[in-house]
Amino acid sequence: MRELKILAVLIFFVGLTYWGVEPYAHQIMHPEVSPADFTFKDLPKQPTTGDAAKGKELVAAQCISCHSVSKEGIKLAMSDADVANTYGVVPPDLSNVAAIYDHNFLANFIQNPEATVKAKPGKYAMPNLGISAEDAGHIVAYLSSIANKNLTAKQITEEACVRCHNIKYEGISRVATDARIKEYMGSVPPDLSQVIKSKGEHYLNGFINDPQKLLHGTAMPRVGLTKDAQAKVIEHLEKVGDPKKDERNSLAFWILGYFAILTVLTYLWKVSKFKEVH
Ligand code: HEC
Ligand code: HEC
Repeated sequence: MRELKILAVLIFFVGLTYWGVEPYAHQIMHPEVSPADFTFKDLPKQPTTGDAAKGKELVAAQCISCHSVSKEGIKLAMSDADVANTYGVVPPDLSNVAAIYDHNFLANFIQNPEATVKAKPGKYAMPNLGISAEDAGHIVAYLSSIANKNLTAKQITEEACVRCHNIKYEGISRVATDARIKEYMGSVPPDLSQVIKSKGEHYLNGFINDPQKLLHGTAMPRVGLTKDAQAKVIEHLEKVGDPKKDERNSLAFWILGYFAILTVLTYLWKVSKFKEVH
């Protein structure tokens, strides 16, 4: 009877910890947030197709004073360092943007950059160029026609993040100096080498396309990646920050196997010893 009481008390406390304390602590440390949204529900639907030839003309007229398009051999007149100094960051090369950004996001962005990335009003370096919805559709059609759809995870990460962030473990750094980007963004974007460990995959997944949701008031604009591109970025940051993960996971298999064999041997040994005793 006494043992049963002890067992009941034990079960009660284990149950309380398991179903009460642990979920509560988890909820405090990782508040429930809506999952990452790759449809950008808040943005109106815009035309994302059109005439690529017209788009090409529009890009030549409207974009290449600030953006290179290396695929078409279009370079910036100034050096990267000077451009970074002018805008706070080097505007991304436009060759592959349509392969990593959601197309409806892009169409909205081209018409209204600051609001689309949810930057602080008056702070975003790309001005509103007064481009119509129809023209934005032509531009997206053009950018889509030149984009390389087979970018590696590393290339996508560089395109999407390294305009602002360093990844020192890979030896990649942004062009803009700490002082200049701080002046532009209000703070120096942290190095991403170890971010997979400090923040975790779950956080990154919710953060990239909607930083404000997880870090209210943050200076980081939202990025606008497709689901696939974001998965590649996270996969890449995982590889940089935790390069031994696969090795570790495969090691677990051998360790478990080792213990399984040991268990069998120990059991056989016990059986043989008990045979001697009886
Ligand atoms: C006056 C310079 C200027 C012009 C003109 C300009 N941009 Fe930009 N653009 C920028 C800067 C600066 C950034 C980077 C801003 C940042 O990351 O804070 C940027 C960022 C972008 C991005 C990245 C968006 C994202 O979500 O991160 C795209 C795509 C883009 N521009 C497309 C275009 C297209 C298309 C045109 C022409 C229709 C254009 N830009 C014209 C300066 C310019
Ligand atoms: C236009 C510049 C810009 C781009 C592009 C950008 N970031 Fe950031 N990021 C920032 C800034 C600025 C901060 C610092 C925010 C602050 O201090 O509020 C930041 C902070 C962060 C943080 C830290 C968040 C925290 O909770 O402390 C992470 C993680 C991050 N960025 C990941 C990324 C990833 C991944 C990408 C590419 C997909 C990316 N960023 C693209 C500017 C940028």
